[in-house]
Amino acid sequence: MDEYRILLDHETIQKRVKELGAEITRDYQGKEPVVICMLKGAVYFFADLTKNIKLPLMIDFARLSSYRNGTASGQMELIYDITAKIEGRDVILVEDIVDSGKTLKYFIELLKKRNPISVKVCAFLDKKERREVDITVDYMGFDIPCGFVIGYGMDYAEKYRELPFLAEVINPLKA
Ligand code: IMP
Ligand code: MG
Repeated sequence: MDEYRILLDHETIQKRVKELGAEITRDYQGKEPVVICMLKGAVYFFADLTKNIKLPLMIDFARLSSYRNGTASGQMELIYDITAKIEGRDVILVEDIVDSGKTLKYFIELLKKRNPISVKVCAFLDKKERREVDITVDYMGFDIPCGFVIGYGMDYAEKYRELPFLAEVINPLKA
């Protein structure tokens, strides 16, 4: 059992997610965006967020993985691609946390080749200080410092995703 301290409780998270949903609803009036869940981490955020966007949506899912444990850094693999046709559509990518920004940069570049009208990013958390590539987070839940976080979809060695709150791992072995 790893030790952790709670940073954001369930109510605080839900309040912010409602605000983000309202903001996206306003910005996309008259549009029908394709909203993409970046698996696995964004799954709970995505489920709560989309329920708070009062627009006709198409939802879809993608999964990417980076080889961050090996020596080759920044190597991305697309494990599961969206099936939606995004040409001529507005796309919103929903991510759990933007860290170096490499995952999103890779996926945004791939999606732009399919000629969407726009691609925007909605991230639950932003670790701004860790950014290595230029990525704009258009909608951000919370700006957090550099600790390693778990819960609300996020894992530590594939554990703790199901926790309904966000917590910081105390003394993580690897991050
Ligand atoms: P990036 O490509 O460096 O921006 O990596 C982003 C991905 O790393 C996120 O989607 C998460 O899956 C993972 N990640 C980064 N920081 C954390 C954390 O503190 N807890 C859990 N996962 C994290
Ligand atoms: Mg992720």
